[in-house]
Amino acid sequence: MEVQTEQQLQDALSVRHDVFIKEQQVPQEIEIDEHDRIGSGTLHFVVYRGGVAVGAGRLRPYSPGISKVERVAIAKSERGTGLGRLLMLYMEETAKRQRNKGLKLNAQTHAQPFYEKLGYTPIGSVFVEAGIEHIAMEKSWTS
Ligand code: COA
Repeated sequence: MEVQTEQQLQDALSVRHDVFIKEQQVPQEIEIDEHDRIGSGTLHFVVYRGGVAVGAGRLRPYSPGISKVERVAIAKSERGTGLGRLLMLYMEETAKRQRNKGLKLNAQTHAQPFYEKLGYTPIGSVFVEAGIEHIAMEKSWTS
């Protein structure tokens, strides 16, 4: 669901903290950035299962008609059950409603097959960010 309250934002940030900072050792000063501030124009998303926050992601206006999907995270214990896919499809629907023509993202290379199954295509070559290999990917639609 789209984050609408401060509590929901904190829940989303807490999933990101567990996954990126604790599990993947991404420095906090890189994980949290200016796009997480209220009023930055970024949409935040949180997934709850049984009242517990287990997933998060954000959608950031990037260029005319294009938004960028960032910080996609599913709690370790919940992976492989389709929640990541559900979250991605929900963000894509939101982007379409907002008249975007496509989405971009920088995938951690281990997650490339996950995004490929959702219709994203890799562009360019692998680069390292926060000590993790990434590849840019994109998806566009006509309607
Ligand atoms: N490698 C290969 N395939 C993968 C995959 C991976 N790492 N992760 C998921 N898939 C596949 C699943 O097998 C499934 O395929 P199917 O439709 O054929 O059954 C499909 O992608 C959807 O999987 P789903 O269960 O919805 O994925 P998930 O809930 O486990 O979420 C991530 C995937 C990447 C979001 C999750 O593993 C995660 O949070 N990882 C840690 C944080 C991270 O790396 N985020 C990505 C930053 S770019």
